[in-house]
Amino acid sequence: AARHRERLYALCKDAARFYYQTLWQPEHRAAQQYFIGRGLHRRVMNQFGLGYAPDSFHALIDAMTAKGYTREELMDAGLVSRSEKGRIYDRFRNRVMFPIIDVRGNVIAFGGRVMDDSKPKYLNSPETLIFHKSRNLFALNLAKTTKNGYFILAEGYMDVIALHQAGFDSAVASLGTSLTEEQARIIARHTDQIVISYDADGAGQAAAQRAIDILKKCDLQVKVLKIPGAKDPDEFIKAKGADAFRAIIDRSENHNAYRLEQIAAKYDLEDDEARVLFLRDAARMLAGIESSIEREVYAGRAAKMAGVTAEAMNIEVRRELGIRR
Ligand code: GTP
Ligand code: MN
Ligand code: MN
Ligand code: MN
Ligand code: MN
Repeated sequence: AARHRERLYALCKDAARFYYQTLWQPEHRAAQQYFIGRGLHRRVMNQFGLGYAPDSFHALIDAMTAKGYTREELMDAGLVSRSEKGRIYDRFRNRVMFPIIDVRGNVIAFGGRVMDDSKPKYLNSPETLIFHKSRNLFALNLAKTTKNGYFILAEGYMDVIALHQAGFDSAVASLGTSLTEEQARIIARHTDQIVISYDADGAGQAAAQRAIDILKKCDLQVKVLKIPGAKDPDEFIKAKGADAFRAIIDRSENHNAYRLEQIAAKYDLEDDEARVLFLRDAARMLAGIESSIEREVYAGRAAKMAGVTAEAMNIEVRRELGIRR
């Protein structure tokens, strides 16, 4: 079994090399242009080992079997799919490729993106003997040596790569959608502060709320970024530059303040009735804060937001705590 794992690591590494070499062949200028068009420099493309899977059902199979890998190994590495008739074919075709590398530096899987707006936009390797999505983070192999006091958690491959290119070398992404507890524990081994930098859309904000809970369980200090005027960190950096991103990191809010603002956004605080509802809603959130000091601080902030006394807010929070017990 150990030998089988080693074979799969070697195969994934060779596959990454194949995709990389394919990208830089002159006939695949469109793929090169795709990355360049998204603002990536050659240096960062190489750092991340970006590549291209050609538009073929057997290019990778041919290249890897020529190197002595078997069809079973290709299947077990998640690099090929099997048709109903039992024939195997390249899983990734005509996609730009993002190798997924574990913390020790082994290539363990791939993400592949279409270059237009066809679906699915991204295709990822399936879970394999060496790839467990919930236990890995994209770019952790690079972020683990950062001198930054904090990690940045983004949603996507391109966000992380754009962040690294802009000098934020502690950026990582959970692979796919939601952060897992295992991933949070892994992050906590490398840092005690994290800035969540998810997409500005509703899905991103909802995911941020869930990520806060998971990261707090690991005793991380959690801040949440708001990205004004852009969909995600990649687009923000492209439009406004690295200094502007650093400025929003410096202004990023503690997760409690972020949550209070999310709650406040649901109510018209000019309206008395709505204000009462806001205070109840906020009190429920505040009652969930573990530390009484923290609770006190943010109760004060909520009171200010609604224009009531801190004492009134505290009474409401205590009432909520009473209900809980
Ligand atoms: P770009 O369009 O390349 O900038 O990607 P993005 O990272 O901004 O994409 P999006 O915000 O839509 O999604 C965030 C992350 O979710 C991506 O980086 C992928 O890891 C994942 N994802 C997005 N679309 C798909 C999909 O169609 N299938 C799968 N499996 N994952 C996806
Ligand atoms: Mn698994
Ligand atoms: Mn998104
Ligand atoms: Mn996005
Ligand atoms: Mn994007």
